Amino acid sequence: MKWNADLYDQKHAFVFKFGEDVLALLDVKAGERILDIGCGTGHLTKQIQDKGAIVKGTDYSPDMIAQAQTLFPDVDFAVENAADFYTEQKYDAVFSNAALHWVLDANGAIKSIYDALKPGGRFVAEMGGKGNVTRLLEAIRLVLQNHGYHEQADTKVWFFPSTAEYAKLLEDHGFRVTFTAHYDRKTPLLDGDQGVAKWVTMFGAQFLEGIADDEKEQILKEITQKLEPYYNESGQWYADYKRLRFIAVKE
Ligand code: BEZ
Repeated sequence: MKWNADLYDQKHAFVFKFGEDVLALLDVKAGERILDIGCGTGHLTKQIQDKGAIVKGTDYSPDMIAQAQTLFPDVDFAVENAADFYTEQKYDAVFSNAALHWVLDANGAIKSIYDALKPGGRFVAEMGGKGNVTRLLEAIRLVLQNHGYHEQADTKVWFFPSTAEYAKLLEDHGFRVTFTAHYDRKTPLLDGDQGVAKWVTMFGAQFLEGIADDEKEQILKEITQKLEPYYNESGQWYADYKRLRFIAVKE
């Protein structure tokens, strides 16, 4: 999937703004080596470095990494596949905010992360959890089906696991899960009644692949109409986010 890194920074800054309190969970100590997986445009990676850590940010998207390098030239970034990577350098902690739900091969990611940690190292992350953006997904699927796009409607784009599901994967790979939480966090969308269309265009582009622009516009309008009763609170629109957070230790 191709990302628009400028649009991401201008309109979806909430991704890394909310991530700032996941950083508190990471509890960076000066001098630690930290790997930030799915770092996007690198805002949190930079904050980790500013706390005195030796940090590397990785992302699957070359566009995101290019933007990160432009914004923060003093931070180490690389394009890498979270589902399948190997590093000689071992880390005190692996961090990830709002990225792991994109990695459908969760086993591959957890195995790679386990191997990347020093013994005693920690894996601290937040991702979309079970039930995340359910209303949005239902609306996208229903409207696509109504337009005859059954294949697009069935596209599997994200993995939103329950606490038990992800904890089991972590344990199967040798981690001890020391903290986990699964909670609602309704998330404001910018640009009023244009917010849903912008969100779907940015994050759900795979659902719309192969559809002509004018029909796409109509589909986005219908998705917005379906969501309005749930998402529009006196002009401020909110998406039904559910977060899964955890700390897992390599013992
Ligand atoms: C999320 O952070 O929950 C999310 C972001 C983009 C697409 C799907 C979920």
